[in-house]
Amino acid sequence: MRSSSVVNPFFANSVHASKNLQTVLRQPVFAKLPRIPINGSPVPHLTSLYHNTDAGEYGRRSYPGNCGGNLIKDLLMYFRPRLVLDPMTGSGTCQDVCRELRVPCRAGDIHEGFDATSMDAMTALAGQDPVDFVWAHPPYWRQKLYATDERDLSRTGTLEAFLARYEAFIRAATGVLVPGGRLAILMGDYSDRDAGFVPLVYHTKRLAFEAGLRQCCTDIIRFSHGATSGRKVYRSSFIPGLHDVCMIFERSRV
Ligand SMILES: C[S@@+](CC[C@H](N)C(=O)[O-])C[C@H]1O[C@@H](n2cnc3c(N)ncnc32)[C@H](O)[C@@H]1O
Repeated sequence: MRSSSVVNPFFANSVHASKNLQTVLRQPVFAKLPRIPINGSPVPHLTSLYHNTDAGEYGRRSYPGNCGGNLIKDLLMYFRPRLVLDPMTGSGTCQDVCRELRVPCRAGDIHEGFDATSMDAMTALAGQDPVDFVWAHPPYWRQKLYATDERDLSRTGTLEAFLARYEAFIRAATGVLVPGGRLAILMGDYSDRDAGFVPLVYHTKRLAFEAGLRQCCTDIIRFSHGATSGRKVYRSSFIPGLHDVCMIFERSRV
């Protein structure tokens, strides 16, 4: 048996939140990733673990919630869509990637009065042409506030109201997809003092499945390199979430 006097020095230090420990935690950590199985993918480095530290020259990094463009680029090179919809475009990251890859893209945002939760608005954005890929990076509920427009998903006062509007968006996006078309959603779990931990990734899947979509490949766990929360010091104790999740759903082919 271990002596009760043997304590974990890491824990002991963390209790006192020593300057030394804070310095250690600020160092980059290198993890050995599993080997990638050789396969016929046109984008072999695209796996369930997305750890690219380079955001690429897409969109505006200063835009709140900017997601970097390389994941979008990899997805488009993998799925090779003919027409992309980007209905929560923010600083235009997805549009910039599409421009580079020469894939037609139609985009909107609540900042321009475009409401992605409206089926009519989504249908108008799609136009007459068949949409085979929708890229969506919605607000992680109220983690960041975007527009002053009350239709902004980040402005919904309760979780129930957010989920109802999020469901309307998922159904509207599903409605504009051709059979076999894909809806890619980048979402992160959220927590705050009032709501506690809110599993938004779970809710995304639940709402997508209820809308008749199926998930067509692995979750892509995107490491949150460059997140502003990584530079903060908190007095409270919690297990930091260092990722968000990209889920790709497919509309039935029949
Ligand atoms: C996470 S940000 C997207 C950032 C973007 N991926 C980028 O790299 O710049 C979420 C965006 O959703 C927009 N948004 C929120 N509610 C919306 C709605 N109902 N319809 C359309 N856009 C909405 C916000 O204005 C914000 O730009």
